Amino acid sequence: MTRVLTGIQSSGKPHLGNILGAIIPAIKMSNNEDNESLFFIADLHSLTTLRDSSLIKENVYATAAAWLAFGFDTKKNIFYKQSDIPEVCEFTWYLNCFTPYPMLANAHSFKDKSDNLSNINTGLFTYPVLMASDILMYDANIVPVGKDQKQHVEMTRDIAGYVNNKYGEILIIPESKIDSRVMTIPGLDGKKMSKSYDNCIDIFLPEKDLKKQIMKIVTESLSLEEKKNPDKCNVFKIYKLIASKEKTEKLYNLYVNGNFGFGTAKKMLLDLILDTFSENREKYNYLMSNKNIIDKELEVGSDKARKIAKEVLSRFKKSLGF
Ligand code: ADP
Ligand code: TRP
Repeated sequence: MTRVLTGIQSSGKPHLGNILGAIIPAIKMSNNEDNESLFFIADLHSLTTLRDSSLIKENVYATAAAWLAFGFDTKKNIFYKQSDIPEVCEFTWYLNCFTPYPMLANAHSFKDKSDNLSNINTGLFTYPVLMASDILMYDANIVPVGKDQKQHVEMTRDIAGYVNNKYGEILIIPESKIDSRVMTIPGLDGKKMSKSYDNCIDIFLPEKDLKKQIMKIVTESLSLEEKKNPDKCNVFKIYKLIASKEKTEKLYNLYVNGNFGFGTAKKMLLDLILDTFSENREKYNYLMSNKNIIDKELEVGSDKARKIAKEVLSRFKKSLGF
């Protein structure tokens, strides 16, 4: 049995980048008979950037609802909230003591985030160690993530390697899995779609608000008549990640033939999103109006996850002489 594990920070509502880059590929893997999947909401990680308690709570529900709306099978697998497993914090301390300081200082994501924040806390700095605990605490074999998280998984492998070198093979060295088709989903401004950049498409919004969001996608300023390069257009780049081959070809031809405006392309993207994700939108809204269902799912999942966490932590501590 291969253990697949991944988490999504509850630092905002899940966006199209999270869905195409993490949720859908991870759920696909979880449907494989030979895999057992642990998917969780990284709410402790969200505290590195969020301070509003009601927002933290709401984001946890929104993130959980997204996983469930895309059909994660919580009976076969394990679905939980990071903060329900206090052992992960204890384990983080031990791993901190095996993590070289320069490794954290050189992390891309720390550098990016700390450049954009005026107030940098230590949690942001040690973020990859908590992530290493999330992974190593459950003997995970495979970690499906977006490209931006690859370095964090590499750090996890290094940290586990340092421990194993000293104490024998007590930790499983995980591998990251990146879906090459959806490497990095661009946001409204063409940069990586991210909650931190305020450039997201929230596919769960009511149609009117979703339309407003899509209309904000930045495009070149060209006249209607001019021929357009689809590969340079943010609307097309997002469209082709969701659409069938035929639909993509059709839109491609409209661009290159000219007499076609970006406004129409945006409307086509809106229709595609509404059509492709109609069931998921419905399920998401149902869950968000019935949060007790989410609470119950997380409670059952946390019990299952905690059992594994306790076993691994105890094995680990014994080896270290604690
Ligand atoms: P954000 O950057 O919005 O804070 P997270 O860091 O919480 O997103 O990412 C959660 C998961 O979604 C990770 O596996 C991450 O790699 C993936 N992901 C986030 N944004 C994108 C994107 N634009 N394209 C592809 N995958 C993404
Ligand atoms: N850092 C990840 C992100 O922002 C979320 C995360 C936390 C995670 N712990 C993890 C992902 C463990 C995979 C495995 O996307």
